[in-house]
Amino acid sequence: MKKVLFICGSLRRDGFNMQLLRLASERLPASCSWSFLSYGDLPLLDQDKEFPAPAAVARVRAEVAGADALWIGSPEYNHSYSAALKNLVDWLSRPVEPGDYSTAAGRGKLVAISSAAGASGGAFSLAKLRELLVMLGCTVLEEETRIPLGKRFGQTALALLPEEEAMLERECSALIARLAD
Ligand SMILES: Cc1cc2nc3c(=O)[nH]c(=O)nc-3n(C[C@H](O)[C@H](O)[C@H](O)COP(=O)(O)O)c2cc1C
Repeated sequence: MKKVLFICGSLRRDGFNMQLLRLASERLPASCSWSFLSYGDLPLLDQDKEFPAPAAVARVRAEVAGADALWIGSPEYNHSYSAALKNLVDWLSRPVEPGDYSTAAGRGKLVAISSAAGASGGAFSLAKLRELLVMLGCTVLEEETRIPLGKRFGQTALALLPEEEAMLERECSALIARLAD
């Protein structure tokens, strides 16, 4: 059974990106198990406090290490990803054993990315996130889902348009195919 770990870059419990990730999780086949990463308790990265890793960091690293793929839902904050997500990625980029980067939980992972945001549908955020993840040796799916929220900003529930449903389906299919490789 392949494991997918969903990571929302927005710490809001029911924000649009969390809702989009939930919709993605509902589209995964029974051959996949999935869970959502809770990381709101991560401290800000401080090199004075890296070794031994704080308990929250160790827990998050174990969850990431145990996943066959990550699916990151990134909000767009000032044309970039959120500070919370960058802090998480920074922790995951660091070695568990000092100096041995092969022990870093977040390097070289298979990652799917998506965003729900303003007019760009999160295109700026996703471009920067992709660059960051590629720099860390991750394989980032070419398929990505971008949802321009527009008038939906005033609503609470995220309803997808047919073409957005199709985009999400394509991304899920691409991820499933890569997991089967
Ligand atoms: C600090 C901050 C900066 C933002 N900057 C942008 C932006 O550059 N582009 C954009 O489309 N939306 C921007 N937004 C709006 C977010 O895309 C919007 O709040 C979105 O719903 C956040 O995702 P969430 O619903 O998953 O929490 C910004 C929001 C915040 C809080």
